Amino acid sequence: MNNKIEALGTSTGKILYSSDCQNILDLSVAETMELFKSSGVILFRSFEVTPKQMKDFSEQFSYKYIRDFTKVSIDDDIFVNFVDSENEINSLLPHCEYSFSPFRPDVIWFCCTVPAEQGGETLFWDGVRVWEELSEQSKQLFLSKQLKFYRNNVPVDILKGLAGSDANTIDDIKKILDNLNGVSYQVNDDKTVSIEYTCSAVIQSKYTHQKAFANHFWVYQKRTEEAIFEDGSRASDEVAKEIETIFDKLTEEIHWQAGDLVMIDNWRFLHGRRAFNDKRRQVFTTLSNLKF
Ligand SMILES: [Fe+2]
Repeated sequence: MNNKIEALGTSTGKILYSSDCQNILDLSVAETMELFKSSGVILFRSFEVTPKQMKDFSEQFSYKYIRDFTKVSIDDDIFVNFVDSENEINSLLPHCEYSFSPFRPDVIWFCCTVPAEQGGETLFWDGVRVWEELSEQSKQLFLSKQLKFYRNNVPVDILKGLAGSDANTIDDIKKILDNLNGVSYQVNDDKTVSIEYTCSAVIQSKYTHQKAFANHFWVYQKRTEEAIFEDGSRASDEVAKEIETIFDKLTEEIHWQAGDLVMIDNWRFLHGRRAFNDKRRQVFTTLSNLKF
């Protein structure tokens, strides 16, 4: 690959620049895969990527897409979405996409056509570094207690979108759920499904095989009063303070430019966003599972 590559902040992530108005679809797929495996985050800059090109480019690496019903889509397949709803301009806490469910996508793709004049940076944190920074006591806590997420009355259509094209009927969904680790569920009379999902906060990163604190813990800890651990408990204020300090220390930023594309390893990195106040901001996303 003859493209210029720079470090993205102080992370393992990289900025890959186009050379001579190169089309993103002309990049070597094999070399991009290798770069992604080692870096975990790639910002493709000055390729002038459109949402349609984001989808076309991602198809070279993906075998499955995950529908996000919480967002407004812009394509017929309902796979490419606006990141921000009309009123959603607040900051977003560190999280891995859909990691409260058994349908966590491998990668989250973002592209930007109009950056906010101020703010709106996408943020990311390396779950491997977060784990390394945690005290031994907190590591023990997260290794010994599983996280538990409960969703009541999830419409079947949403589950179909998450589970993929093999899921056409409620029986297909049941078959898929029956084969997933940590899932217990109940099909309700109104054809919705209530799901309990238990998982560890600490996962093995897919490519570097290191422990990573890459999960949905922080959103639940900060935004709800609910129990977060399987045994009905929550993390103490002391643990929360420790984690907040680590996130503050390890925050990395993507300062969007029009035409940027980003791919983030959702099995290692958490992402979030700074608040903004600019209705013109246009950032799009798609979620997929990788074939490598
Ligand atoms: Fe997200």
